[in-house]
Amino acid sequence: MPLKNDLLVRAARCQPVERTPVWMMRQAGRYLPEYRAVRKDLPFLTLCKTVDLAVEVSLQPLRILGVDAVIMFSDILIPVEAMGLEVQLTEKIGPKMPHPVRSAADVEALRVPDPVETMPFVYDIIRTLKREIADAVPLLGFAGAPWTLAAYMIEGGSSKNYHIIKSLMYSEPAIFHRLMEKLADTQALYLKAQIEAGIDALQLFDSWAGELSPEDFATFALPYIQRVFEQVGSAVPRILYVNGSAHLLEGMAASGAEVLSIDWRTDLAEAVRRTQGRVALQGNLDPCRLLGPREGILRGVEDIRAKAKDAPGHIMNLGHGILPPTPVENAQTFIAAAQGRL
Ligand code: CP3
Repeated sequence: MPLKNDLLVRAARCQPVERTPVWMMRQAGRYLPEYRAVRKDLPFLTLCKTVDLAVEVSLQPLRILGVDAVIMFSDILIPVEAMGLEVQLTEKIGPKMPHPVRSAADVEALRVPDPVETMPFVYDIIRTLKREIADAVPLLGFAGAPWTLAAYMIEGGSSKNYHIIKSLMYSEPAIFHRLMEKLADTQALYLKAQIEAGIDALQLFDSWAGELSPEDFATFALPYIQRVFEQVGSAVPRILYVNGSAHLLEGMAASGAEVLSIDWRTDLAEAVRRTQGRVALQGNLDPCRLLGPREGILRGVEDIRAKAKDAPGHIMNLGHGILPPTPVENAQTFIAAAQGRL
């Protein structure tokens, strides 16, 4: 069935749209009291694996904010667990891998898992969401990009300066590249099965690749993004997100993505010039703008709209995920302003 509101898919393909579509990274999350009510006593990974609850929190932003796309509720670390690495997600501490990947033997021990067999709940969530959304808006799937996933796997959790992954990358490149090949193949299979289950567009999160110089991005991260996108194909539009990507736009534009999602540190008009109309752009309001006041949100949306006017396609979004202390009415203001309802 055709989508009733397919603005996001058309903008991603640089086709004409009546108005700019909008959604928010991490739109299903702790800023919503309704999310906190579902999450209450459940460990985060249990929520990810409980189909009816994951479906419920995915739909909350559509009902409460009227966003132009639903993103399936999950986490980029789910396939890491399926590869055979223990993942813990603890409140306030963030992700932890108690047995980080550091040696050739550690890399060899990892599987390239069959996604449907090892993560059936992800595909049940997608199929149930497609039924519930009833083609009102597009459904987004997603995955983590190899460099960002390797960072968690090698560092053993979040990191300030990424010195453990970079040290392995520079001193043991063969081990590093073998891990990246396995990650690229895992993510490609994971995303292809999401497309088969019904997603309408996808986003690849290379959240921390902005820590790399342009040369290192080209050597150690980009080839594996390209490997994922080549295997996935162009059946649905592909969005690539990198946080802190001002120095990487040209490389990102060579990834095969139809859309580049950029953070707030880059002027969107400059991003349009530097990508030479070859890709649509997504972003890029500073998530801290949503902490208030209302006039600042409205001005921020209008500034971005003006800067995006020569982009071949534009999807309004934040420059990174919405923050837990964001007042819901400010998120509503952002969505309504982006949709021209204010
Ligand atoms: O966007 C959405 O609403 C869909 C759901 C989604 C989550 N994580 C839910 C989540 C998506 C797309 C992600 C991707 C993700 N996960 C990324 C890439 C995006 C980014 O922010 O750069 C990364 C780096 C992760 C890894 C991760 N998961 C971290 C670092 C954390 C802890 C940080 C935090 O905010 O607490 C998580 C946990 C997580 N993933 C939460 C949510 C809603 C918070 C868990 C909770 O309820 O306590």
